Amino acid sequence: MATKQTKRVLTGSRATGMPHLGNYFGAYKPAIDLQDRYELFLFLADFHALNEHNTPDENRLNSYRMVATFLACGLNPAKSLLYAQSAVPEVNELAWILSCQVPFGVMTRAHSFKDAQAKGVDINMGVFNYPILMAADILMFDANLVPVGQDQKQHLEMARDMAQRFNHHYGETLVIPEPMISEAVAVVPGTDGEKMSKSKNNTIALFAEDKEWKKQILSIVTDAKGLADPKNPETCNVFRVFSLLGTPDEISAMRDKYTAGGYGYGHAKMELLDKIKATFGPIRDQYNHWMGRQEDLRNLLHDGSRKARVLAGEKLNQIQDRLGLIGRPF
Ligand code: ADP
Ligand code: TRP
Repeated sequence: MATKQTKRVLTGSRATGMPHLGNYFGAYKPAIDLQDRYELFLFLADFHALNEHNTPDENRLNSYRMVATFLACGLNPAKSLLYAQSAVPEVNELAWILSCQVPFGVMTRAHSFKDAQAKGVDINMGVFNYPILMAADILMFDANLVPVGQDQKQHLEMARDMAQRFNHHYGETLVIPEPMISEAVAVVPGTDGEKMSKSKNNTIALFAEDKEWKKQILSIVTDAKGLADPKNPETCNVFRVFSLLGTPDEISAMRDKYTAGGYGYGHAKMELLDKIKATFGPIRDQYNHWMGRQEDLRNLLHDGSRKARVLAGEKLNQIQDRLGLIGRPF
C-alpha cells in the first residue's frame, strides 16, 4: 500500500443487482484506474443495499456479484483495500455522531429522499438517513477523492458539509473529500436515453451472455430515420454509448458514417455490440471465474474488512477524543 502522503481514493457500490455500464464508467473504472498512483479503498455498500428489501439469498448473490465485479474490473487486493461496509461497525458509530450535526431540514432536501417521496413509495428511515451513512463511509477513512456518477454529487456535498461542521465545532479532524466526476461519464445513458439505472430497466449489463447483450443493444431507442438518411450522431443513444468505448479514430469514423447517410441504426448497433464484446468479453470471463469461487471471494473480503476495521478503530478513537467521550477502552 502507498505511503501516507499519497491521496486516498474511495468509492462504494450498493449490492443490489447486475452492475451495468453506468456503474463501470461512472465509478468502478475511474477508481480502479487510480490504484497504481493512489491508495484505493473499494467497498461493498451492503448496508446501503438493505433499504431495498431483497431476500437473504438475493443479498448474498448480489454481494458476491459486486466483489467478483470489482476483481474482474481489475481491483488488485494486494495493493488496494477491498471490504464490506457491514463488517466495519465503526462506520455506523460515526454515522450516529454525524447525524447529530446535520439539520433535519438539510436531510429533507436530499434528492434520494425527495425522489422516493415523489414516487409515492414507502420510505424507511434507511432511505432518509442514506446520505449520513454515505458520509460516514467516506469520512471514516480520510478519503480525499471519491469517484462517483453525477447522481451522487449532492451526497458528496452533504458529506463535505458534515465534515466542515464537525471540524468547526471540534477542531480539524475529518478530511474534506472531493467528488471525482468526469463530465464524459457523469451520466451514462441507458437504452431509452435516460440515465442508465438498475431501477429503470434500461441497462446494458457489464456482464451478460452475447445473446442478452444483443437484445439490450437492439432495444436502444433511436429516431425513425431511414437507412439512406444522414443522421445526427450527437443526439443518437447508440452513438453516445459507442463514444464511451471506441478509440478517438473509431468514434470519428462512426461520426462520419452517420453524417454521410447510407448507414443505418442497425449497422451502428452491430458495431456497438462488437465493441462491447471485445471490451467486456475478457472481463466477463474473469467475472465468471470469480463467481465460481465464492469461498475465495469471502476470504478476500474478510481479509480486507479486518484491515479496514483497524483503521476505522484508530480514527474513531481520535473522533471520540475530540468529542470529549472517554469511554473507548482501545
Ligand atoms: P444504480 O443507480 O444503477 O442503482 P448504484 O447506485 O449502485 O447504481 O451506483 C454505483 C455507482 O455507479 C455510483 O457511483 C453511481 O453514481 C454510478 N452510476 C450509476 N449509474 C450511473 C450512470 N448512468 N452514469 C454514471 N454513473 C452512474
Ligand atoms: N450511494 C452510492 C450509490 O448509490 C453508493 C455509496 C455508498 C458510495 N457509500 C459510498 C459511493 C461512499 C461513494 C462513497 O451509488
